[in-house]
Amino acid sequence: MTEIQERLATGRGKWTPEFPELGTEPVNYDDCTSPEFFQREREGVFRQAWLYVGRSELLPRKGSYFTRELPGKLASIVITRGLDGKPNAFHNVCAHRGNKVVWQEHPQEESGGFCREFHCKYHGWRYGLEGKVSHVTNESEFFDLPKDTLRMPKLACEEFAGFIFVSLAENPPPLRDFLGDRIGELEQYPFEKLTQRYGFRAHIKGNWKLAVDSVSEWYHPPYVHARFLDKDISKAEKLVPPIDSYHYDLFGPHMITSVPGPPQLPPRKPGELGPAVKDQKWVYRLFRAGLFGPDDTPPEIGPLPEFLNPGGIRSWSNDQFWLFPNLYVQIWGRGFYITYTYWPESVNTHMYDIDIYFVPPKNAQERLAQELIVDSTIEFAMQDVNTIEATQSGLETGANRQFHLSDQELLIRAFHKTNRDAVAAYEAEKGEVR
Ligand code: FES
Ligand SMILES: [Fe+2]
Repeated sequence: MTEIQERLATGRGKWTPEFPELGTEPVNYDDCTSPEFFQREREGVFRQAWLYVGRSELLPRKGSYFTRELPGKLASIVITRGLDGKPNAFHNVCAHRGNKVVWQEHPQEESGGFCREFHCKYHGWRYGLEGKVSHVTNESEFFDLPKDTLRMPKLACEEFAGFIFVSLAENPPPLRDFLGDRIGELEQYPFEKLTQRYGFRAHIKGNWKLAVDSVSEWYHPPYVHARFLDKDISKAEKLVPPIDSYHYDLFGPHMITSVPGPPQLPPRKPGELGPAVKDQKWVYRLFRAGLFGPDDTPPEIGPLPEFLNPGGIRSWSNDQFWLFPNLYVQIWGRGFYITYTYWPESVNTHMYDIDIYFVPPKNAQERLAQELIVDSTIEFAMQDVNTIEATQSGLETGANRQFHLSDQELLIRAFHKTNRDAVAAYEAEKGEVR
């Protein structure tokens, strides 16, 4: 072990044996290549679960709204802040003849803004903020129109810690029950102070679960991310934290990992760059920021809530909360957070959204520091993406179908099982036999 690795080592033993239900056998990856499983997963997971669609900042006041095109034609929806202050969600489909009601320049593009009611662009029917029909053009020409019951079809919609979720299921459990107590602790984090958002979207040629896999283990960084560490792989291997310095936990369908990282630079005098740090790139030193965040944590964040760093990692960097099925909330010790969402479009493509949130910058230096963090994060994510596309190509040959997962790939083992189990449970409930 190198000095860095010795400093971070905890001597913690194995994790997988603590979850005997997961087994230790090789894992079959047909769930990433089978079109038939893709359809079952769509019904059993994506049409049943609570799905994160956007932050509450998108609905700052009564009458605010935004639309979402859930990929793979899963649904086209409108989310509004009603007159009662609560969020509503409904399908973006007119009750008259099915036109998409809310859009701006192009019907396939998402939009948002503020309004009192929505007007269908086809024949002028109007809808209130809850999605109910409020006006029918030439109403007297219709026959027995049950106007009071007409609406854009309603969806379950709830807000938690400023995250807005919808469910396409008819009777989903309350969101808070679905999230459970451990995820519930996220409410203690001051998300509402981090309103500076940098958002990115990419379309990836790989099954969405391969993307989840790629951020669920820290076995790959010396190889996939060598450019960040050291081009000489043997040196890069010595720079990554040891296997035992990570902390894992599984609870219900959700999961958490805590991750170590480099220590923060000491505070500096205003207007000064601070001491040079060995081996640090000049741009990191100048802006005091990099992949692991800024060295000057914004004071607005205050002391971090106690639920973070549950494993007591010595040089803690971030906690990654996996909210089944497709949201990953990563809270960093240095005062910022990132959401990653993975939306299946087809069995071998998905849409990848990365949103990085900070306290709004107070000056140019802070803004540039944030941009440097964003740039590093996106570069890091895109390095993973290349591997995902290569893995999908490899899997689709069918040459290998069973794969060996190590102890530090515990979350991958758990995630694929949780997903398969959710599909099976849904089918069993429906009385479908497989
Ligand atoms: S389809 Fe909307 S008013 Fe006719
Ligand atoms: Fe990675």
